[in-house]
Amino acid sequence: MLRTHTCGELRTEQIDSEVTLCGWIDSSRDHGGAVFIDLRDRYGKTQVVFGPESGLVDEGSTLRNEDVILVVGKVSPRPDGTVNAKLPTGELEVRVTQLQILNKSETPPFTPSQQELPGEDLRLQYRYLDLRRKPMQDVLQLRSRIIKMMRDYFEQHDFIDIETPILGRSTPEGARDYLVPSRVHEGEFYALPQSPQLYKQILMVAGYDRYIQVARCFRDEDLRADRQPEFTQLDVEMSFVDADDVMGLIDGLMQKMALDIKGLELQLPLPRMTYDEAMSRFGSDAPDLRFGMELIDCSDLAAKAEFRVFSGAVESGGVVRGIKADGAAENFSRKRIDQLTDWVKQDFGAKGLAWFRVEEDGTLWSPIAKNFSDELLVEIGQRMEAKPGDIMFFIADTWEVSCRALSALRKSLGAELKLYDPQEMHFSWVVEFPMFDYDAAEKRWVSTHHPFTAPRPQDVALLETDAAKARAIAYDLVINGFEAGGGTIRIHDQDDQRQVFELLGIDEETAQDRFGFLLDALKYGAPPHGGIALGIDRVVMLFGDLDNIRDCIAFPKTQKAADMMTGAPSPVDDKQLRELSINVIRPD
Ligand code: AMO
Ligand code: AMP
Repeated sequence: MLRTHTCGELRTEQIDSEVTLCGWIDSSRDHGGAVFIDLRDRYGKTQVVFGPESGLVDEGSTLRNEDVILVVGKVSPRPDGTVNAKLPTGELEVRVTQLQILNKSETPPFTPSQQELPGEDLRLQYRYLDLRRKPMQDVLQLRSRIIKMMRDYFEQHDFIDIETPILGRSTPEGARDYLVPSRVHEGEFYALPQSPQLYKQILMVAGYDRYIQVARCFRDEDLRADRQPEFTQLDVEMSFVDADDVMGLIDGLMQKMALDIKGLELQLPLPRMTYDEAMSRFGSDAPDLRFGMELIDCSDLAAKAEFRVFSGAVESGGVVRGIKADGAAENFSRKRIDQLTDWVKQDFGAKGLAWFRVEEDGTLWSPIAKNFSDELLVEIGQRMEAKPGDIMFFIADTWEVSCRALSALRKSLGAELKLYDPQEMHFSWVVEFPMFDYDAAEKRWVSTHHPFTAPRPQDVALLETDAAKARAIAYDLVINGFEAGGGTIRIHDQDDQRQVFELLGIDEETAQDRFGFLLDALKYGAPPHGGIALGIDRVVMLFGDLDNIRDCIAFPKTQKAADMMTGAPSPVDDKQLRELSINVIRPD
């Protein structure tokens, strides 16, 4: 070992002992005659002093930020008045007797301790410098701790950790696959797993009734703040269980994590809400339940309005729903309302945003109020439980657009108006998702979760008669308005599986071609089974009070799925392409 202690370790007990420290120069102050350096490693910072007695003042003064040095010296108390109460090592300093420069650094584009956070592009390009920052060290440490807690928890519950292939066959999880060309099988491709879904089901058939894996997943999809093309799941599958068993197990994990990490005591079972209820009360299948501001349906009242935007929407089968910000009318200038209007139009396809302010006398005021009778305004006010000082926003549109626009508006207003304590965490389950969504563009049903999801037993008949109404045995774990995990009970009967494939327009031949191995496995004694996967990056983001998944990953990709540091993806040699029999059509 080059060092005797880390830069976060020394305390007054070590005073007078000789120590050797190694680290990076966090900052240096040249006081002419003495140089003071904060030496940093991932454990902390220690002040090291090149005093006149050392004979090293000149050499010390040549040191620059991020140089790596080794110093030998004596631990000494800091002179009165120079104690730094903010640092655990702040009562002492190391008086240097020997210096070894282990490596000089070029002037870095930013320093790990600078006040102002550098732009994200720069942080990602020089990730090694960014990772020297304390907040990044803290989050990677938290991530490591969370993964260890997860593994320990599942080991205690008799789960086995089994790795599944990275080079596999595509599993239809709904996103585009990342493909890897095979050199040996000319013109053929592996797909990187979108999740280990089929492998874990096969493991159940194989009798490994409790499986977990910290699994890398790859999805070529449009990225957002909570999505990465390459992310990590805590993947779980169990046999001979029902949905309550899976949720109960995760409840226990969340209770433990909330207590250990946040000191929060969770009451179990975690609350559950059906998908239908979540959509009607919050417009989202992952509602943030730290605050109210529920969506209120006023379609029946709107139908009576002269205002065609409202009545017309209801006549054509749509809805008029609103949300209310209590006592917040003054927070919304006309300019702010115009911004919100543009936002819901552009991002969620709404046609506009109607709003009413509640005046001192309880009447509703709005530029569109003249289009409503006084009685109707009173009725709307009553339905919304309006009080003086409130402001209400309405969307008249299809059910889907009203859900999208109002849930986003609700989320944004909740944050803007500080309707919850950001330290608080809220955990819940959303259950009974629809089996299928209708893809209007492609005019076909697609699985809401994936095609191996079992319908609720009472909904099996609906598969034939009214597939839209069929609900799945599916559950999503929602934390603070984010989907932190999702799972289902699977179909374990091959005839049921075929029926679902048929509904999805996957014919026998395609099914056999793509998932023949699963269908075959289901013939050889498949136990009833189900599972879940938690998004580890998102869980870390939520437990770390962060709002960006990239901050929870050591080497994340940008919004354009690029790695700024290595430059991936990159062109490859023609020779490599020839070996793979690949001809690249380059854009002109
Ligand atoms: P699902 O697709 O819902 O289910 O994924 C499970 C969880 O993984 C996280 N997640 C992501 N995190 C970051 N970036 C992404 N692009 C991304 N996509 C998903 C989410 C999500 O809840 N095989 C099934 C699970 C099962 O049925 O057991 C699956 O993958 O937190
Ligand atoms: P317009 O008559 O289109 O000028 O709209 C009058 C007001 O109603 C504006 O404030 C619009 O933003 C709002 N508005 C228009 N369409 C809708 C809609 N579908 N839902 C809610 N408000 C709307």
